[in-house]
Amino acid sequence: MTFYITTPIYYVNDTPHLGHAYTTIVADVLARYHRLLGEETLFLTGTDEHGQKVEQAAKARGLPPKEHCDQMVVQFKEIWKELNSSHDIFMRTTEEFHYKGVQSALQYLFDRGDIYEHTYDGWYSVSEEIFYTEKDLIDGKSPMGKEVTRVSERNYFFRMSKYKDALLSYIETNPNFIQPDHKKSEVLGFLRGEVGDLCISRPKERLSWGIELPFDKNFVTYVWFDALLNYATAIGYRGSNTEKYKKFWPNVVHLIGKDILITHTVYWTTMLLALGESLPKAIFAHGWWLTGDNKKMSKSEGPVVKPLDLRKEIGVDGLRYFLARDVVLGNDAQFSRDLVIQRLNAELSNNLGNLLSRCLNLIVKYFDSKVPEVNTLGEESKILKAQIIELPKIIEAEVRKLKPQSAIGAIIDLLSATNKYIDIRAPWKKAKDDLPHAAETLSVVFESLLQAGKWLSPVMPERSSQLLERLGYKLEGNELIRSSENVTPGDPLFPRLE
Ligand code: MSP
Repeated sequence: MTFYITTPIYYVNDTPHLGHAYTTIVADVLARYHRLLGEETLFLTGTDEHGQKVEQAAKARGLPPKEHCDQMVVQFKEIWKELNSSHDIFMRTTEEFHYKGVQSALQYLFDRGDIYEHTYDGWYSVSEEIFYTEKDLIDGKSPMGKEVTRVSERNYFFRMSKYKDALLSYIETNPNFIQPDHKKSEVLGFLRGEVGDLCISRPKERLSWGIELPFDKNFVTYVWFDALLNYATAIGYRGSNTEKYKKFWPNVVHLIGKDILITHTVYWTTMLLALGESLPKAIFAHGWWLTGDNKKMSKSEGPVVKPLDLRKEIGVDGLRYFLARDVVLGNDAQFSRDLVIQRLNAELSNNLGNLLSRCLNLIVKYFDSKVPEVNTLGEESKILKAQIIELPKIIEAEVRKLKPQSAIGAIIDLLSATNKYIDIRAPWKKAKDDLPHAAETLSVVFESLLQAGKWLSPVMPERSSQLLERLGYKLEGNELIRSSENVTPGDPLFPRLE
C-alpha cells in the first residue's frame, strides 16, 4: 500500500500563520506515522500563486506577480523547515509542468464538450476567489461574510452539474470519502440543492495573472480550477512520466480546512469524474483555530503571528505536540498560551518527563547504567507488557482513521499506566532488599519508554530522538537500533513551563 497526503496549497498573498502551520503539521504527523508503519509515503504542500488575490497583493507591493510569489515562497519554505515539515514535494502552481498539465486537462474537457462558452452574470469574492449567484448572498456578502463584486462578462464554463448525480452516489457508497461525518452532511445538502456549472475562466482584460486557456488566448484559467489540479500534476498527471501518479493517486488523502470544503468535495471531484480519473480516498476537513472573540484566525482578523511565535518559548516540538494532540481533528478550537502550557506540563513534563528521569536514575544507581535483563515476569508486569505490545496496533488503527489525537492519547495512556505501575512497585525501595523485583520493574518501564519514544517521533522528531538517545537507542527508518550500552539521564527533557 502507498499513502499520499496533501495540504492545501496556500495563497501567497499572506505570510504563513498558525492556521497554515496547523494543517501542515497535522499532515506531517500523519505522513511520518505512515512512514513509521512501513508504508511508501508521499507528502505534498505548496503554494497557490495565481488569481486576483495574489495579483492584488503583488500590485500593492509594487512588484510583478512572479517576483512577489518568489519572495513569499521563501517565507513558506523557511517556516516549514523550521517546523520540521518532512514534505516530499513543495508544489508551486507557477511551475512549467503544472501549466502544461492544466492546459492539457482543459483541452481534453473542451474537446469532449464539457467546457462551453456563456455569459457569466453574478458575483465574485476576491478573498475567497469564489463565484456566487444572487441567491447565495447573505446581506449582500458571501456566505462566509466576505465582500463581493458584480461581474457580468463572457466566460467559459465547466459542466459541473452533469456530474452531480455520479458524485452523490459516490459519496453515498463510500462512507469514508468525506470526513468528518457532519461535513459529509453539509456537502450532501449542497448537492441536493441547485448545482449550476462552474465558471472556469477570467477575461485577460480583468485578470492576466493565470494560466492561459489553450483554446482561447483572451482568457486565463479560474484560479481554483488551476490550483486543484496541482495535487495530480505534482506527481506526473498529464506529464511525460506518470508512474508516480499511477502508484500514489488511488491512495491520496486531502487534508483541508473547512473553509474550502465545497471547492474540494464538489469542484475537484466533478473535475476528476469528467477527466475519467479516480476520486481521492478521503477528503478530511479540519476545524479552525479561533481568535479570543471566536473568529477564524486569518490575516484579515488581525494579529495571528503570535501563536506561531510561541515556538520560541515552548520549542518546535512543543508546538507540534499541542497542535496534533489538543484538538479532535475536525473540531474548532481556541488557541491560548495557558492551554498550551497546561497540556505540555501535564503530559510531557509530568507524565513522560518524570517517568523517564525516575527510571534512568534508578538504572544508573542500582544497575551500573545498564538496563537489567529479565526473563520471567510476574502478573502485574505481564499486564503492562501486554499494553506495550498492543500500542503499535492501536496507533495504526487511529492513524488510519485520521485521528492523530487518539494515537497520541494511546501513548499517554500507556505512560499513565506505567506511572501507576512504578508507583505501586516502588523500585527505589525494593532495590534495597529485593533487587530482582526492582530489575523486573525497571526493565518493563524501560520498554514502555522505548515504545513511547518511537511512537512519539512523528509528533516530536527532535525530542523523541533525544529521548531515545538517553535510553541508548536510535531510530533507523522504522527500526529501533541499540546505540549505547548505557543509559544517560541528563537534564529534564521536558522542563516545566511557567
Ligand atoms: N489557495 C487555497 C487552497 C487551494 S488548494 C488546491 C487557500 N489557501 S489559503 O492560504 O487561504 O489557506 C487555506 C487553508 O489554511 C485552510 O484550508 C486551512 O487548511 C488553513 N487555515 C487558514 N486559517 C486557518 C485557521 N484559522 N485555522 C485552521 N486552519 C486554517 O484556501
